[in-house]
Amino acid sequence: MPVPGEVPTDRTIVLVGLMGAGKSCIGRRLATRLGLPFRDADAEIERAAGCSIEDIFELHGEAAFREGENRVISRLLADAPHVLATGGGAFMNPETRAAIGERAVSVWLRADLELMLKRTGRRNNRPLLKRGDPRKILSELMVQRYPVYGAADLVVDSVDGPPEVTVERVLDALRERAASIEDAPRVEGVEV
Ligand code: S3P
Repeated sequence: MPVPGEVPTDRTIVLVGLMGAGKSCIGRRLATRLGLPFRDADAEIERAAGCSIEDIFELHGEAAFREGENRVISRLLADAPHVLATGGGAFMNPETRAAIGERAVSVWLRADLELMLKRTGRRNNRPLLKRGDPRKILSELMVQRYPVYGAADLVVDSVDGPPEVTVERVLDALRERAASIEDAPRVEGVEV
């Protein structure tokens, strides 16, 4: 039974959102706050492949990366509850999205373009952003992906400032969701 006012930790919490939205940084801190393990899907893909994401894109192509991404996330979702940061394209895969919907609570970390540009500009390791002007690419991805990210269970705005502020917002959103599920009318134990 969930404890009123507490964040339930019986399901994996999956962070989705564009590159530079802060999924790994916020995810790591969120996990610490909740006493859950933290996993990073990109890092797990690199470990499974034995090479970097850049190398996977270059040697095997984006389609192979996407297949690996779906496989790795499905495997992670079968593990005990944890906080999982996913790569920006993961939630676009309908199979991955359905698996997340079944087994986890999804949180879309939404950030504005300037913040994502600032954060992604710190490292030059994202193959998609090397295909042209990062501002144009990220803007196009916002148009393509935001309607799909909108299917996440929760949306939280990632702020430019101390990560703890965004972590607090995620915790509040998770608490609110838990409270609304508890309050939902039930018929013979079934949510209606
Ligand atoms: C991608 C995002 C990256 C990584 C890969 C592709 C995307 O992860 O999975 O470069 O399609 O948006 P981050 O969102 O963690 O940067």
